[in-house]
Amino acid sequence: MGFFKQTINTVPLEGKTVLVRADYNVPLKDDGTIADDFRIRASLPTIHKLLKDGCKVVIISHLGRPEGRDKKLTLLPVAQRLAQWLGEPVRFVDEVVGDKVKMAIKRAPKRSVTVLENLRFYPGEEANDPVFAKQLAADSGARYFVQDGFGVVHRAHASTSAITQELPSVAGLLLEREYTTITHAMKAPKRPLLAVLGGAKVSDKIEIIEAFVRVADTIVISGAMANTFLAHRGVKLGKSKVEEGVGDTIDAIYVAARKKLGREDVDDFLVLPRDLAVGGALTAEEPRREVALNEVGVDDMALDIGDKSIDDVVKLATEARTVIWNGTLGMAEYPNFAHGSARLALTLATHPDVTSIVGGGDTSDFVLNWDARGGESFSHVSTGGGAGLELMAGKKLPGVESLLDARR
Ligand code: 3PG
Repeated sequence: MGFFKQTINTVPLEGKTVLVRADYNVPLKDDGTIADDFRIRASLPTIHKLLKDGCKVVIISHLGRPEGRDKKLTLLPVAQRLAQWLGEPVRFVDEVVGDKVKMAIKRAPKRSVTVLENLRFYPGEEANDPVFAKQLAADSGARYFVQDGFGVVHRAHASTSAITQELPSVAGLLLEREYTTITHAMKAPKRPLLAVLGGAKVSDKIEIIEAFVRVADTIVISGAMANTFLAHRGVKLGKSKVEEGVGDTIDAIYVAARKKLGREDVDDFLVLPRDLAVGGALTAEEPRREVALNEVGVDDMALDIGDKSIDDVVKLATEARTVIWNGTLGMAEYPNFAHGSARLALTLATHPDVTSIVGGGDTSDFVLNWDARGGESFSHVSTGGGAGLELMAGKKLPGVESLLDARR
């Protein structure tokens, strides 16, 4: 079955001016250069296809969360990096609406790419302002709007929502791929389906934990989130990061799990670490110490799951047919505490028979850094953070819902 929305493959775009919303919200280094251009690379298939169709491609995106115009958050370096990947010039206009934009697009030839400035320099963007959206559509001269910024479709902003009232709006290839891969894995996965959930906070992920209790065959809870589950069970965790005030939520998750399985003991379904790797300080040099759950010292911080728990996760991942991984298993930015995440990445990369879907900003960053093949070692590395979580939780995404329905 095809995608439920129209895409750039289902409407006649040949030779037209097309306004494309990408998500070029890329991580930046302290010196302002791009730390990771995965989101730029992920946008290339759509741009290549539009160029092949002879389109005048006008790209809009946000970068960061500026309050007004902020030259540190200009999209100019993104336009330059895009030009490197495309191997052809990319025009850049330091405005999003107005005469400068109109003139630049008018002058641009067919089969060209123009990147406009950061949408969030304009208050109308986040306000989902219809007047701003109208101007955006009119000044670009576009005949179609293409939504390809999967990472931002959970936001109802002018460039994801109001713009679709102004132009016939369809999905780009990245959006289509992300949406279909993730929804297929949630609705009709090859089983067993293993969900590996990590990251810092339970409260950020309640809805996806609930969704996985419904659809997954096993759920591994790791990262700092596991600390909170363990502390709730009375494990003494010294100075580890533990989230307060989520006891009722954890209880409700266990109630749902017991109901689903029809038994009291669900520890083989909601799998917690049975040992931990601890350190005394948050530094890259801090040595890793393996401890049992009852051996965490008063000054220790749990910074990774322990070796035995890593073996458990590896075994589960090897036996699974689908693994959805969202959230690192420990403080993966420090190599001494990246053992869990690295072993899981290695397991997935060496078991191509297991469908592996990796999502969440930190987790995607980790596997992309880890993988010499730029993410190709996994079935799918998602460009989405919050958007992926909302999609997995079964929520409707405003930036997708507002696109034209596929013809049936
Ligand atoms: C993201 O990085 O998750 C998206 O680009 C959305 O960014 P936002 O959280 O600032 O809206």
